[in-house]
Amino acid sequence: MLSIPDLIKKKRDGAKLSEGDIKAFVEALTSGSIQDCQTGAMLMAIWQRGMDTRETATLTKEMMLSGEVMSWPREWAGLLVDKHSTGGVGDKVSLVLAPALAACACKVPMISGRGLAHTGGTLDKLESIPGFSVHQSAQQVRAILSSVGCCIVGQTETLVPADRILYATRDITGTVDSLPLITASIISKKGAESLTALVLDVKFGRAALFKDLRDAKELARLLVNAGNELGMRTGAVLSRMDGVIGRSVGNVLEVIEALDVLKTGGRPDLMELVATLGGLLLAMTGLAADQSEGRRKISQAVSGGAALLKFQAMMEAQGVAKETARALCSAHTDYFTILRKAKHQLDLSASHDGVLMDVDGLVLAEVVHKLGAGRSKAGQPVNHSVGAELLLSLGQKITKGTPWLRVHYEEPAPSPDQIERLQSALVLGSVADWKKQSLVQEVMLPV
Ligand code: URA
Repeated sequence: MLSIPDLIKKKRDGAKLSEGDIKAFVEALTSGSIQDCQTGAMLMAIWQRGMDTRETATLTKEMMLSGEVMSWPREWAGLLVDKHSTGGVGDKVSLVLAPALAACACKVPMISGRGLAHTGGTLDKLESIPGFSVHQSAQQVRAILSSVGCCIVGQTETLVPADRILYATRDITGTVDSLPLITASIISKKGAESLTALVLDVKFGRAALFKDLRDAKELARLLVNAGNELGMRTGAVLSRMDGVIGRSVGNVLEVIEALDVLKTGGRPDLMELVATLGGLLLAMTGLAADQSEGRRKISQAVSGGAALLKFQAMMEAQGVAKETARALCSAHTDYFTILRKAKHQLDLSASHDGVLMDVDGLVLAEVVHKLGAGRSKAGQPVNHSVGAELLLSLGQKITKGTPWLRVHYEEPAPSPDQIERLQSALVLGSVADWKKQSLVQEVMLPV
């Protein structure tokens, strides 16, 4: 067996690591026998030399096996599903999709994350609901799946400890943006959930981690391959991430939008993503004959109110008081009697006439992040009430002076520079230039 310095040199010099090499590296990580500088050096060697499909799949599997792998009752076989997104702006898809899937008889142990860079995190959004606890043990997850069918929780201490070490080291060694390392990090955690089927929402565009469709496609291919290698039926959706998904950005505002969607439907872009991702999962589990039947079932679970009931039950199971959960899900709720509203609102108006062609989601996300919706340091609290709401839809004709964006803020207030940046995010054009674009670019089926 090669020593750690020899393993590092092997990768540094461009050779492929064998299964035994990768196993030895991950074992050294979890046993603590590797020094931090060696971990950093190996990560940099991987970042520079890359890993082929086989090495990536092996690293994924060894990372998954570094901790607890969840087990489920036999009668749930074939029903366990989850989705992962590479990060978006206004991406509240999980809040609608998890209960919709549960309403279609799936078991959804959704393990989500917090905001990363300018992108929002599902856990931060849910924590804007008083009482909602994202910290649930494996035993509690099993109990919630048994009674409700879905839960949305944070990663437990015992799940994929190797990722915790690698992720923290990547963060301080300039090695986050490596396709094989991202793949192993994401898929090892999903593998530890022992899923039947997994769908990945791989985003590309201005406000995505990967701006370029080609890079996003390569990541999707690696993710799909690694997931299938672990025995999960894994598919991916490549979706455009240039603007805002739905109408709002910011934790509490996104929860309100998700509740509105579950009650009365939502903007077509958001519904398209929910139906596509959910339809694919139902087709992969066999709960639908094909993707189009899957899409129909998911849409019906939302429009018929079954998903709303699941969301209410999930909130109660995860610590929200019964009366609060019921009130949030009732037809004529004044949300801000329950959820925290920002102290101030500021409406921005269009400076000239035109058709709303586009909104720069990256600019919106960066400004609300700075106003407190996101973190600048790990562990920092976020201000759940800060955010922004689009008051108009793409393709809508507007006249000079029409309010197009409502900013919700507290301390700090938006500076003149930030207001100018927000105004620059609005793109107006002529009717002739307007063309509706689908968010979903491509669906990648299991290999
Ligand atoms: N999310 C993860 O869990 N890991 C990565 O490396 C990137 C995004």
